[in-house]
Amino acid sequence: MRRARTPRTAFRASRITTALVAAPLAVAALAAPATAAPAPAAEERSTQRAEGRNHHDRDTLRGVAPKGFSIGTAVAGGGHHAEQPYADPFAYDVEYRDVMARQFNSLSAENQMKWEYIHPTRDFYNFYPADAIVRYAQENRQVVRGHTLLWHSQNPAWLEEGDFSDEELREILHEHITKVVGRYAGRIQQWDVANEIFDENGEYREENIWIRELGPEIVADAFRWAHEADPRAKLFFNDYGVESFNAKSDAYYELIQELTADGVPVHGFAPQSHLSTRYGFPGDLEANLQRFADLGLETAITELDVRIDLPEGGEPTAAQQAQQADYYRRALEACLGVDTCNSFTIWGFTDEYSWVPVFFPSEGSATVMTEDYERKPAYYALQDTLRSVRGKR
Ligand code: G3I
Repeated sequence: MRRARTPRTAFRASRITTALVAAPLAVAALAAPATAAPAPAAEERSTQRAEGRNHHDRDTLRGVAPKGFSIGTAVAGGGHHAEQPYADPFAYDVEYRDVMARQFNSLSAENQMKWEYIHPTRDFYNFYPADAIVRYAQENRQVVRGHTLLWHSQNPAWLEEGDFSDEELREILHEHITKVVGRYAGRIQQWDVANEIFDENGEYREENIWIRELGPEIVADAFRWAHEADPRAKLFFNDYGVESFNAKSDAYYELIQELTADGVPVHGFAPQSHLSTRYGFPGDLEANLQRFADLGLETAITELDVRIDLPEGGEPTAAQQAQQADYYRRALEACLGVDTCNSFTIWGFTDEYSWVPVFFPSEGSATVMTEDYERKPAYYALQDTLRSVRGKR
């Protein structure tokens, strides 16, 4: 059912007020260790509501998804959200939590499991926000994608600026993976073990501290350590710009064959799929997923959003929304067309919390719902596509 639209200024103002009231609590929650932190009010209230929720509601995305298919979203918190005039969305926005529980059966931690967040100082792990996501997912019968263990970005200063020997660095990564993956063992369906390790030419990224300091062999160790810590989790490579056949996706194609030949537990390959109507739809997405599936891998779309160049005034035209819906539909169809693609995640579902306008100021409206949770054509494109394959896949 569509909601009556709240005027944006009033909506923003109420969020800012909420943020001012809630900010000290958010800081306390972030700083507190797992055992000591109080449960935020929003968490308690949405837990109560979860008990009466119908996860088979046909007016949602999860309710029309084929059996065994994960339709997911990133869980807003940390990262760019920390700079916005609102409180941490996952911890404090009850409506957001409710829509997320109703619509999705898979969740990805947008920032809450990244190094700078979960391991902010060398001897302290801040598990509270990640624990809260995993708990909420269990309450709402959702699976979780873990994101991420070996990346060049969002690493804490103590790590990037520390003067560690190779041996120490290796042990730091081993300990981190063992602790983080081990803590959620059995409760994470897929882990993005290695994120964005290649540049657009298919070369290892120099900025990646692990690869730069320890050599590319460390990637195989990261997969081995993750597998030891949770043998049930499916372990993925994840990257953007690998939707098509190109130098970067070719580099993964080569590397994964080498690793699997060596017995390294690599289970999946995932194009993030941050798309823009400016560049056209990657028409070879399905064929590209298929070549990885043919290697025996699981595949997934992990971070889909579709940016639009907004006209003056900031509202997309009907034609732009229709084009965006077409991109969402085609991305989902590409995944559904590949037997091993059973997980499809969008990088946030409401424009209110999207990273896109923060990184791309003249672009936006990239998600499937407005700031007021009004469904866009893109939402219906996903829903109709899921419905059309239900019972046939
Ligand atoms: O680290 C700086 C800090 O030093 C500085 O003081 C502060 C003030 O501006 O900014 C901090 O950087 C922020 C960063 O998160 C770390 O918290 C950025 O501004 C902020 O924009 C950034 O946002 C996150 C981004 O990853 C970082 O790359 C987004 O919330 C998150 O949605 C986004 O997610 C990534 C996936 O993990 C990987 N794939 C691409 C995707 C979109 O970028």
